[in-house]
Amino acid sequence: MLTFFLGCKKEEISKCDDNIGLFTFSSYPIGTAIDFNALESDPVYKSIAIKQFNSITPENIFKAQYIHPEPLLFNWTEADRLASFCQNNNKRLHGHTLIWHQQLPQWILDYQGSPFDWELLMKVHIQTVMTHFKNKVTAWDIVNEAFNEDGTLRNSIWKQKIGDGYIEKAFLFAREADPSALLFYNDFNLESNTTKLNSVLSFLNNLRNRGVRIDGIGIQMHISTYYPEPTQIANTFQKIATQNYKIHVSELDISVNPLGKDFVPSEELFNEQANLLGSLVLNYNQIPKQFQHGITFWGISDKNSWIRDFYNREDYPLLYDDNYLPKPCYCKLIKTL
Ligand code: G3I
Repeated sequence: MLTFFLGCKKEEISKCDDNIGLFTFSSYPIGTAIDFNALESDPVYKSIAIKQFNSITPENIFKAQYIHPEPLLFNWTEADRLASFCQNNNKRLHGHTLIWHQQLPQWILDYQGSPFDWELLMKVHIQTVMTHFKNKVTAWDIVNEAFNEDGTLRNSIWKQKIGDGYIEKAFLFAREADPSALLFYNDFNLESNTTKLNSVLSFLNNLRNRGVRIDGIGIQMHISTYYPEPTQIANTFQKIATQNYKIHVSELDISVNPLGKDFVPSEELFNEQANLLGSLVLNYNQIPKQFQHGITFWGISDKNSWIRDFYNREDYPLLYDDNYLPKPCYCKLIKTL
């Protein structure tokens, strides 16, 4: 992997060198996903997390596979340590994620029962986790990635076992468990796929019309320098905000090599990445304040990004390079916040 060679100009980042963080430039929270192992083992990672961000999303450790490994066993150890880290350092904790078709423990995948048994299983999972973190977690991704790209409901294990009503039930159980938490629906490609966005909005609006409280929508935004166009992003923000949902840019990263080609990273490419981030932020700034839940990056340094492992490709999607030096997109962020 390349060691990043085109970092910010020193004078551009001097404002952030010491105790001033990215979030101090912003009127809304600036977050990062936290890889718990890196937080505990890498002091540089930890100090950047503390200094630069004021909202934390657990990248993995709140997912059912880790937090609910056996039917009657909840594993709070790491999640509690992260919650204490957030409390001690005055960070908002955004819970991710309760109901998803991935990263499920084997016992859920193997579970045999009636639709009612499955509903109970889902209720116990949501309510035990939310009750445990009451007053520690401000907002939750209740349901994650429930839609297909064509706008239909994904045939996830939850839909198969409980039926289409599982999403409504999940939000109702969540509200019952912690009436003060903000409840989000979270998904990807909403900024680039209008069919999917329209389906999600009409589905959630329908639930709201039936009295189900849903506070916001997480737009993951695993995007790239090739798509989407800034205007698509602006339209998406506007469309969601006009329907009275808070917007969380919940998993932002900007790939510079989405096709996984052999490529030579160039100054031009990293400036393109910075410019796309800049326009995204300027558009986010236009959203009425009450709908700005914040912008969360899906990691700190390029070397921590899920993209390299998952797609097995060379890529540089985040604010910091492999040596934790801020990149041009970091400087652009400060200028545009
Ligand atoms: O738990 C094992 C661990 O025991 C083992 O030592 C390690 C060795 O590689 O692997 C660990 O599991 C990995 C896990 O991350 C924790 O590091 C899995 O193999 C790996 O597949 C898993 O990837 C996560 C992925 O979700 C799972 O689909 C990524 O870190 C995480 O960034 C990614 O996050 C998702 C969001 O939750 C939802 N939206 C999409 C986003 C990107 O896929």
